[in-house]
Amino acid sequence: MTVVGNRPQFVKAAAVSAHLRERADEVLVHTGQHYDPELSDVFFEQLEMPSPDHELGVGSGSHAEQTAGILTQLEPLVSDLGPDALLVYGDTNSTLGGALVAAKGAIPLVHVEAGMRSGDRTMPEEINRLVVDSLGGLLLCSTERALRNLRDEGRAEQAVVTGDVMADIALAFGPLADERSDVLERLDLEAREFSVATAHRPGNVDDPGRLRLVVEVLAQAAADAPVVFPVHPRTRSRLDQIGALDGLAARGITPVEPLGYLDLTRLVRVARSVITDSGGLQKEAFLASVPCLTMREETEWVETVESGWNRLIGLRPEEVEGALADLPTPGETSPAAELYGGGRAGELVAAAIAGWLA
Ligand code: UD1
Repeated sequence: MTVVGNRPQFVKAAAVSAHLRERADEVLVHTGQHYDPELSDVFFEQLEMPSPDHELGVGSGSHAEQTAGILTQLEPLVSDLGPDALLVYGDTNSTLGGALVAAKGAIPLVHVEAGMRSGDRTMPEEINRLVVDSLGGLLLCSTERALRNLRDEGRAEQAVVTGDVMADIALAFGPLADERSDVLERLDLEAREFSVATAHRPGNVDDPGRLRLVVEVLAQAAADAPVVFPVHPRTRSRLDQIGALDGLAARGITPVEPLGYLDLTRLVRVARSVITDSGGLQKEAFLASVPCLTMREETEWVETVESGWNRLIGLRPEEVEGALADLPTPGETSPAAELYGGGRAGELVAAAIAGWLA
């Protein structure tokens, strides 16, 4: 049984599902944490994912409400179906809910993207990672660094490095996005003459003062090239609350609705730079040889920084200009998709699970 619920998890599951189904039956459960068509359905369609077998319809709410909703809905399903294993991805409340139900029901738990750590326990995702990795029986790591983190926590025996499943999809669907997406035409953009920005971390967008700094960072980036800004629903409502939405255009920032996978991938691949607080986008920029400014003080994807393609600028607008000048030119070959598994992670995840359960 695979449990997913949020946008990035649909991408991750897309990399694994087909490989899993070559070896066993998969029951796909969607918690409903993300439910808007542009945050959910479009990913299933574009990534050619099987439809969920069960939808829990949990929806939005506080962390307690979301997690409790998942526990209440998922537990009877798991006890009815009795899966051989339960598979969760990443670090969201859907990951946490799935992991707790598996652990309490004595179902073997597999965690993909295990061992990622930011060291920042004020991030809800960090709490989820720590709990899920302490419960998981098979911990599948995207990177060697993640394995080291687990070793430091005494969890290396459960861990295997498979590479990063999101990278599989970025590598496989990148060229398709170039062919199939007409987003440049729709938004009237020329390749390498714009930057793409996203922001959704609660730590960046929930506090009005910090959200204003996010806008300042994007405005600084817009001095280099106009910024296209697909706005997550959380961020849109916060910007609206502080009255900052209408003023963006005058600062060179164009807010647009959240984009599907192919459109966003197309934009990233031909952007001048990416400015983000998302983990997925840091990697996708790296794999597309596009420089990235990350609006956080740390990253779980340290390889992107160590190789010189990603700069952690926090919320310091004054660092934007210098960072953009220092980072490599977009389109220059970035070092090695191999760092993230080279596109074979999904296959290795399925093989690791089969080996573990055998
Ligand atoms: C969640 C994850 C985060 C992940 C992100 C991907 C947790 C703790 N956080 O954050 O790690 O990077 O998903 O996007 O699980 N909303 C809609 N439509 C939807 C879903 C949400 O409008 O389909 C709005 C709701 O007002 C909701 C807000 O977005 O309150 C936040 O959604 P939520 O799922 O709570 O967290 P994310 O910020 O998306």
